[in-house]
Amino acid sequence: MDAEVPRKIIVDCDPGHDDAVALLLASTHPGLDILAVTTVAGNSTIANVTRNALGLAELLDITAPVAAGATRPLVANSEDDGFHGETGLSGVTLPATSAASPALDPRHAVDLIIELVMSHAPGEITLVPTGPFTNIALAVRREPRIARRVREVVLMGGAADVGNMTATAEFNVWFDPEAAEIVFSAGWPVRMVGLDVTMQALATPAVIERARAIGTARGRLLTEMLDAASPGYLKDGFPGPALHDVVAVAAVVAPELVEFEQAPIRVELTGTHTRGMTVVDRRRWIPRAVPTQYARALDVDGFWNLLLDAAARP
Ligand code: BDR
Ligand code: CA
Repeated sequence: MDAEVPRKIIVDCDPGHDDAVALLLASTHPGLDILAVTTVAGNSTIANVTRNALGLAELLDITAPVAAGATRPLVANSEDDGFHGETGLSGVTLPATSAASPALDPRHAVDLIIELVMSHAPGEITLVPTGPFTNIALAVRREPRIARRVREVVLMGGAADVGNMTATAEFNVWFDPEAAEIVFSAGWPVRMVGLDVTMQALATPAVIERARAIGTARGRLLTEMLDAASPGYLKDGFPGPALHDVVAVAAVVAPELVEFEQAPIRVELTGTHTRGMTVVDRRRWIPRAVPTQYARALDVDGFWNLLLDAAARP
């Protein structure tokens, strides 16, 4: 990627330990330019995830506006599963607010997304949603012209194979399935970075030790997030935590690391046991000239090198 021309992105997130590391990579890599950080209820309440986003913006020197968005899903009555603890970032200490702390942008996240996309040239902005898709769905419903103006949507969510909240549904899609269905069928290019690849990049003890040895402020933040995220994964028998949302950022800035395949993707909205499932039509004889793609392979070593290099920057 040409480091001279950073890709303009809006990160729509619900921090969340892995969202926090996604912001670390996005704000540090010279190939990316964050235009806004918008928040959505998901891993925790909108108050918690927005407070977390502001604290992370301060820690990571993110000067782009931070704006709060949807407080609940469009239709569902989902509540977070407590996986990221009571604050959404449990186990992590964020800076106390001071006069110099970034202030919350007064605009609603949906308005800010629309404003930015409509005031930039077509094809300039990439949306990177790493939480439930409520804000993105509301934005494209409220201003359908954004579907033709964004370069692409590179989202963390869904799975072609197994889910994590249920046998078939991944958390971000499960939380607000109607919003996900709107986003997948809006006609804009969507690259789905789902559990099929994000569960390949588990931070093993060896990876965590590499992070611990870095010694920069970003290295310490990364280590803190990995340590905080570890217990939940170890309890479930994994060798270490996944950093799902970071893979979506990696897919934007280092596309060679993630292999995608074009396929129709729809969201199951009515299944008794499958609500929130992303139905990826992998039948080989189905026309594949669709704007949706799903990630099917990840260069795991390349992914960790990308992240650890970013964390090593002063
Ligand atoms: C997704 O759900 C959240 O817990 C994570 O932040 C990630 O966005 C993984 O299923
Ligand atoms: Ca997330």
